[in-house]
Amino acid sequence: MKQKILFVCLGNICRSPAADGIMHDLVAKAGAEGRIYIDSAGTYAGHTGELPDPRMRAAAARRGYNFTHRARQIRESDFYDFDRIIVMDDYNYESVHRLAPSREYSNKIYRMCEFFTTFAERWSHVPDPYYEGAEGFELVLDMLEEGCRNLLADLEQ
Ligand code: 4NP
Repeated sequence: MKQKILFVCLGNICRSPAADGIMHDLVAKAGAEGRIYIDSAGTYAGHTGELPDPRMRAAAARRGYNFTHRARQIRESDFYDFDRIIVMDDYNYESVHRLAPSREYSNKIYRMCEFFTTFAERWSHVPDPYYEGAEGFELVLDMLEEGCRNLLADLEQ
């Protein structure tokens, strides 16, 4: 059976679609598409249907990624459909936790920083780059590349 992973942030236009795109790339390179399914969502519905933020797409394109996800809001049924729901920060964690159908389902919620190695020393969340400069997007991509590599290793062990 496929392992199903849902990445979640606030708007689903910066951090979680980037994690989604990076993970798609890693899974494809590992030939693991038959074993791992990936999607992303936001806790806030205001950007529904939008492509990722142009600044994120530009930063990602410089690293060879093409992010094509269309934003959607997380829904209660995601707790039934996914095995792991991976949030970017504590604010996302609280919002997603409130949506969990029961305590048992809240065990599916993980924080992205749980998969950090070098970034774990200084960071316990993935910072929101929406109101930051270009360097914010580079930092987020660096963090997500490390986190997704470690997440894939965890899923494949
Ligand atoms: P994201 O970034 O949660 O990483 O997608 C944001 C996108 C939009 C907003 C905030 C954060 N917003 O306030 O519209």
